[in-house]
Amino acid sequence: MPELSSVHGRPGLLITFEGPEGSGKSTLISSLAERLTACGPAPLVTREPGGTRVGERIRDVLLDPDLPEQTRETELLLMVASRAQLVRQIILPALDEGRIVICDRYADASVAYQGGGRELGAEVVDELNQFAVGDAVPDLTFLCLLPPALGRARMGDRDRDRLELEDAAFHERVYDAYRGMAESNVRRFRLIDASTTPDIMLEQTLENLRIVEHDLLTGL
Ligand code: TMP
Repeated sequence: MPELSSVHGRPGLLITFEGPEGSGKSTLISSLAERLTACGPAPLVTREPGGTRVGERIRDVLLDPDLPEQTRETELLLMVASRAQLVRQIILPALDEGRIVICDRYADASVAYQGGGRELGAEVVDELNQFAVGDAVPDLTFLCLLPPALGRARMGDRDRDRLELEDAAFHERVYDAYRGMAESNVRRFRLIDASTTPDIMLEQTLENLRIVEHDLLTGL
């Protein structure tokens, strides 16, 4: 049985989902939450940036395409600010109550997007993440992997936010950074092939959860 990379030592379980744009992780999270709810107490589903009143306001600033002057340093600090609020207001209390918390993006996204995409480097991002989350490190992280060109094609013509508007080279760097993190942390990361159907992605996720030993996951 693979062990969880638990660092927080609380009774709950923190599961995060990451991936490049268009990887289908939000759909996957909804179907996983439905499945978990059918077998036990409903998980708490949240997202980043956002997830709190403060964080959702920060999200609006971060994603607004009418704010192109936002610097990469500002962007990183706002991502981390939203995270610090979410961790203390929502995530830690839920983990203390023994709940499953599912977060649509988390600290790794800053390493991929600001560290990799914006080329700020992993070091400064790691340091700020450590300040924001402390020991609230995910037990498991599902990385929905999809080549960036395919992700952009999936987005089609819909209105793009400030980050989605970045060029192909930026999204390639994000993708490479995610892959690098997964390779150097095999204990926490699980790869999901996001080029398949939503049903297969859910099955891949469930298979990974079923083989993990944790009271909250029995009956899946
Ligand atoms: P979403 O589209 O998955 O809701 O994510 C919002 C955007 O924010 C997405 O383009 C990824 C980006 N993002 C970062 O650049 N850094 C971060 O730390 C987080 C959490 C998200």
